[in-house]
Amino acid sequence: AELVFSGVQPTGNLHLGNYLGAVKRFVEMQERDAQCLYCVVDLHAITLWQDPEALKGQIREVTAAFLAAGIDPKRSIVFNQSQVPQHAELTWIFNCVARLGWLNRMTQFKDKAGKDRENASIGLYDYPVLMAADILAYRATHVPVGEDQKQHLELTRDIAQKFNNDFAGSILAHGHGEGFFPITEPLIGGPAARVMSLRDGTKKMSKSDASDNSRINLKDDVDTIAQKVRRAKTDPDALPSEVEGLKSRPEADNLVGIFAALRGISREEVLRDFGGAQFSTFKPALVDLAVATLAPIGAEMQRLMADPSHIDAVLADGSERAEAIAAPTLDAVKDIVGFVRRG
Ligand code: AQP
Repeated sequence: AELVFSGVQPTGNLHLGNYLGAVKRFVEMQERDAQCLYCVVDLHAITLWQDPEALKGQIREVTAAFLAAGIDPKRSIVFNQSQVPQHAELTWIFNCVARLGWLNRMTQFKDKAGKDRENASIGLYDYPVLMAADILAYRATHVPVGEDQKQHLELTRDIAQKFNNDFAGSILAHGHGEGFFPITEPLIGGPAARVMSLRDGTKKMSKSDASDNSRINLKDDVDTIAQKVRRAKTDPDALPSEVEGLKSRPEADNLVGIFAALRGISREEVLRDFGGAQFSTFKPALVDLAVATLAPIGAEMQRLMADPSHIDAVLADGSERAEAIAAPTLDAVKDIVGFVRRG
């Protein structure tokens, strides 16, 4: 059966890239009637220092964004990572499966650690192993993420494969099928797999960009959204009528991709309507579309944030249901590895 897992870090400034590349697609997976687990990955968040009081608010805010975007906490399991101890437990076991050489190739670590690599936390280095544990604790088959997570998902597949091989005999001896861990399918794609900065079409839209004008935040009000789109960097030419014409025009390509993802259509279809149009025509249409989609989500987030106890109850319920799936997996893993355990 299909089992979907994905997560978002509670590191503040949830933006349009997170929404179109991830959260909107979480909702689509839920509509396909798959069992979905959506996790606020707070253990991942502390790989970079977080102010403790702010972190609590950010965890609730990502949860509110999930719910406001249309994730139904009855149909899907919505929870935060630190409430389910199996994530950290499985990470340790996977630390002993993953190879140093594999982790040394991870580009996100290199980007986030920057020049002062000696001073990065061990957690930041181990980030992709924790991500593999998130996914495989549920033996998830499908993981919807943005393009930037592709390399981490390949590592998850490598870890699953190596575990299945290293313990092949023990897996069979304990009555499990050959592929104890599934080789997870990444679901990356669509026009917004990689939403770019509004200030520089060659840089990813990111929470940590110093310029707030580089991104549209889910919390931005209508005027701010409109202003950011109007000020978005563009070139002087009209839009092309074919997607090939977007190739060497990163800013135009990005705005057309955002429009397509918001409308749930392809770039080709956008250009069918707007090919030949100037940005002075296209941008107001994009403002209308962005506001129509994001303003209700922002308003609903605000409403939900007014009642933190409701959000906390959603997370507590989700965590319990998540643990009920992860605990038997961990018991099986401990047997397979050769640990002695209670009961
Ligand atoms: N620009 C993006 N376009 C498409 N998808 C994106 N995602 C992030 N940025 C884009 C996807 O959003 C999900 C949650 O991301 P995350 O919070 O776990 O981590 P992140 O990728 O570190 O987010 P940022 O904004 O990029 O933060 P910083 O500034 O720290 O680098 C993931 O599925 C991700 O692919």
